[in-house]
Amino acid sequence: MLKWIWSYIGKYKFLMIFGLTLSVIVAGFAVVNPLISGTIVDKVINSPEHDFNLLVKLILLMVSATLFKAILRYSYQLIFEHVSQNVIRRMREDLYAHIQTLDFAWYDKAPAGNVLTLLTSDLDKVRHFVAWVLYQSLENSLVYTFSIVTLGMINWKLMLAFLGIAPFVLVLVQKFKGQIRPAHMKVRDQFAVLNTRVGENIEGNRVVKAFVRESYEIGKFDNDNDGYRKAAVNNADVRVKYTPWIDTLCGLLPVVLILFGGYLVIRGEMTIGELVTFNGLMWAFTQPINMFGMLVDNIQNFGASGDRLYELWKTKPSVKKGYETIEEANAVSSLGPASKLSDDFKCQGRVEFKNVSFAYNQVPVIKNMSFTIEPGMTVGILGPTGSGKSTIANLMCRYYDVSDGAILIDGKDVRDYVPEILRKNIGITMQEAFLFSDTVEGNIAFGNQDATFEEVEHAAELARVKEFIGDLTEGYDTIVGERGVGLSGGQKQRIALARLFLANPKIMILDDTTSAVDIETEQKIRQSIKEQSQGHTTFIISHRISSFENCDLVLVIQNGEISEMGTNEELLAKPGYYKDVYLEQNYGKK
Ligand SMILES: Nc1ncnc2c1ncn2[C@@H]1O[C@H](COP(=O)(O)OP(=O)(O)OP(=O)(O)O)[C@@H](O)[C@H]1O
Ligand SMILES: [Mg+2]
Repeated sequence: MLKWIWSYIGKYKFLMIFGLTLSVIVAGFAVVNPLISGTIVDKVINSPEHDFNLLVKLILLMVSATLFKAILRYSYQLIFEHVSQNVIRRMREDLYAHIQTLDFAWYDKAPAGNVLTLLTSDLDKVRHFVAWVLYQSLENSLVYTFSIVTLGMINWKLMLAFLGIAPFVLVLVQKFKGQIRPAHMKVRDQFAVLNTRVGENIEGNRVVKAFVRESYEIGKFDNDNDGYRKAAVNNADVRVKYTPWIDTLCGLLPVVLILFGGYLVIRGEMTIGELVTFNGLMWAFTQPINMFGMLVDNIQNFGASGDRLYELWKTKPSVKKGYETIEEANAVSSLGPASKLSDDFKCQGRVEFKNVSFAYNQVPVIKNMSFTIEPGMTVGILGPTGSGKSTIANLMCRYYDVSDGAILIDGKDVRDYVPEILRKNIGITMQEAFLFSDTVEGNIAFGNQDATFEEVEHAAELARVKEFIGDLTEGYDTIVGERGVGLSGGQKQRIALARLFLANPKIMILDDTTSAVDIETEQKIRQSIKEQSQGHTTFIISHRISSFENCDLVLVIQNGEISEMGTNEELLAKPGYYKDVYLEQNYGKK
């Protein structure tokens, strides 16, 4: 974990070293003023001459030392803030890009709230570590060391008496360290739970309102909120318990100073001025001890967040990339040069399932499925809900990898493609249309950023978006909200369809694309699909028999298996699921 984080900080190592050097100098200055005060007492106040010139010089020295220290501190604080912001910017960038590489299987399980917490609050702990904890640790340990050395040079006996508290502090800190990290971990986890709850509630607010479950939701939130409070209180408890002990130990030092120091002065082993220096340095001695707890606390907090971030960073997609680059994929390709991939590779559109089986978390969904689709065919897929239709689409796009068997596109295993290139060739409109918070035009052009407005308009026309675009206040420039709130279900579906038409991939999968569209509009869209599917391999997944009118082949999926296969006419000619559905939808009977 540290190595990973270091890979970011390392980029700024010279700046960091410069900053740390400044903080070393500042640490050195901690002993300067107490030394000067001691000298003033001994050489001016307590000496018969009361040398006024010396006093002025020493005072000037004190003031300039203080000023100089302030300037240095300002400079390195600036450096560390700057570096830390850059470090987390890069980390955030990389983590975000990393999340984009993760596959459906990960997204199925990752609560958005947790990811949000990682990218904001956990990263902030890393920032704080770089911006503050690092130099504070160095500075405090140096101030501590310098003060011990200076004290020792003045009077080693008194110094040793001071050091007497050190073992107690060490034992305390050791105990504290063991308790605080799990406490921090718990706080972070609980915070993520809280975030997830809020995110889910906002996303699902319509359902909550519809079922009048507000108070239930509030109850659940209160529960999580209380869980967070408990974790935070427990965390604070650990910290607070530690402070009085340290305070007591440090509070003993002035007593030691007056008693033992006074005794040494009486014995003539120390001057009053040296006692004043000791008194002044007591701060330099106790401050790091006080800070020690806080720093350990911060370091543990950083460690907990760092671990969480690193865990995300380590997560590998279960869909193996196989080949990262086109060159790699081509180098191992067993097929001839004809199948060579390039950035603008266009497949023919031949799709073959060879004994494909697939299970989500060990639950079998697709069972030993085989079929072959020739380029340019339009294929319908019908089947009861949960039979595995969308899963077939997911497997083709390689959102998940098959458990057994193989899926071939143009005779080549989908696992031999670079996933990005594969997905550029297979377009899909998901069952639940998702729109970004963007304009209608932006949403349609999502898969083809270079499209001209005319092209967008043409796609919109095909998908019958044009019919309602006039009703929107600003036409194509209307911002459709998150998840397309403000549009009807059928309108969203049509925008999603236009998006696919515009991207115009060789293989198109329409997953229940017109389920929310009225029959009349659907008919028009079917016509568009027919035009658009010329020269494309098209899969139409639907629950409506009428959608399969223009299909060359229809697959009937039941329970993860193909139960019937044939053209519309063939399937109607024999009894079976297809015919049952046909009769029910057309004549309302089986
Ligand atoms: N991400 C997932 N994780 C686990 N199980 C899943 C996941 N997606 C789907 N399933 C399960 O796989 C089975 C097939 O789902 P699939 O979405 O392929 O059905 P479908 O035929 O498209 O249904 P519908 O007609 O309702 O869209 C279902 O039993 C479903 O519960
Ligand atoms: Mg489905």
